[in-house]
Amino acid sequence: MQYTEQELARIVNERDEEELYELHEKIKESKYRCEYHIQTVTGLMNDPNGFSYFNGKWHLFYQWYPFAGYHGMKHWYHVVSDDLVHWKNIGLGMKPTLNYDNYGCFSGSGFVKNEFLYLVYTGNHKEEDGSIIQYQMIAAIDEENHLTKLKRPIIQPQQGYIDEHQRDPKIFFENGTYYILMGAQNEEKQGKMLIYKSSQIATGWTFVSELKVKGYDSFGFMVECPCIQKIGDKWLLLFSPQGLEKEEEAFLNAYSNVYFVGDLDLETMTFTPDGPMKELDKGFDFYASQTAFQAEQNDKAILEGWFGCSDYSYPVTESEGWAGLQTLARELTIEDGKLIQRPVIALETIKDVLVFDAENGVVTKDDMRRRMLDACVIHLDNPGNNNVGLNLFATDLKKGFEISYDARKKTFLISREALVNQMNTDFGTERKITLDALKTLDIFVDHSAVEIFINDGETVMSSRIFPTKEEHKIRMSGKDINLKIWTIKPAVEDDFVVFEKGDDDGE
Ligand code: FRU
Repeated sequence: MQYTEQELARIVNERDEEELYELHEKIKESKYRCEYHIQTVTGLMNDPNGFSYFNGKWHLFYQWYPFAGYHGMKHWYHVVSDDLVHWKNIGLGMKPTLNYDNYGCFSGSGFVKNEFLYLVYTGNHKEEDGSIIQYQMIAAIDEENHLTKLKRPIIQPQQGYIDEHQRDPKIFFENGTYYILMGAQNEEKQGKMLIYKSSQIATGWTFVSELKVKGYDSFGFMVECPCIQKIGDKWLLLFSPQGLEKEEEAFLNAYSNVYFVGDLDLETMTFTPDGPMKELDKGFDFYASQTAFQAEQNDKAILEGWFGCSDYSYPVTESEGWAGLQTLARELTIEDGKLIQRPVIALETIKDVLVFDAENGVVTKDDMRRRMLDACVIHLDNPGNNNVGLNLFATDLKKGFEISYDARKKTFLISREALVNQMNTDFGTERKITLDALKTLDIFVDHSAVEIFINDGETVMSSRIFPTKEEHKIRMSGKDINLKIWTIKPAVEDDFVVFEKGDDDGE
């Protein structure tokens, strides 16, 4: 990377518009820009922030460093959608303007009350001696997307925890009280979650205690982006711990995004899990997900995640001046005690022309002639629970992105091993899960993204890939399978908007 620390500390300004416009002109030509995934307008995107249904639309912000495809001074960028599938760029959502957030507006969550979307976030503050202190801050946008920040923190750093590692507030409301759940590292370098409460949103916050999770003392060395959401009569607790021990089929990514389904006791601040800690996504690239604020108690939650991970690098797009996507929005339900994650229903609307069709293993339509599409949706049924093989972006000699099910070994595998463009190989080139039966696959391919929903949302595996021009074939195998492939209708415009709306004057 050729950027100095000083360059990476740039805060965006209206006079940068032309520079960013030119960067966008360049990156929008990239083969790896997507057609139906939220992608950074310029520079680097990471965590989803402030995800909420507000003023008749879904609002999502993302952590954004505008000037290059690397982590730098964090801003929030704002996108909106009517249906969680078609997303529109709104522009800069929030930028560092206060002494408390002088080294970045870090991640946070949304809460809608009256005519405002409140945004609770971490002010990443750098002292003159270079040390970092994190404060919890609040801002709000009105129905015109005009942002106002409260100039003082709502939560000061908590004693007993490292000043630099207290962040990512998730605000929620239960039984007449507001709560904030956030991630922290204690002085013994253990990952913890902290709970605060208040009777009002913008003032009166007091520390309650750590959130105790029955059966666990701590989670790695740090917990980032905790999130909690009631689904029906159960609670879903999700968070991104750093430093979990690797297992054969779990926690293989640099950092993991995990969950528990269980019960929350707000009297004792105890979460009692119904089962073991599990990963939300079994692929290569998924982190810091959060559920959307919804005003009504619901039996469904909507999840967005960062299609990436801290400490990963994506050299192909970094050299083009950008990095990062969000995953597709997922609908979460709890069925028979299990978390099920399905692509949001509106994704059906992006399917365009059916270009491949096979029934019981017999091809009845093939307009692809083994040529892989840069963007498509694939659905597979495997009624006989037979072996299945799909090679996306393969060549005559190489396997491309490999998806395979071995019915005898009961393993489902994805592999990036054979692709030309490799990345983050220190964390392995394949991911495997034990799977008793492979019934269905729904695969969403979008230039540099592959999301696989297995058995109607029982497991999801998300992977970034960067196929070269030469890697453009598809191979499929599977006895008696039904397989359909559609082209897609683009749902996310790659347009350049930074300053039109949501401009932050730091009031
Ligand atoms: C997670 C994270 C958060 C932090 C943000 C900074 O990816 O490290 O803990 O708030 O990203 O961009």
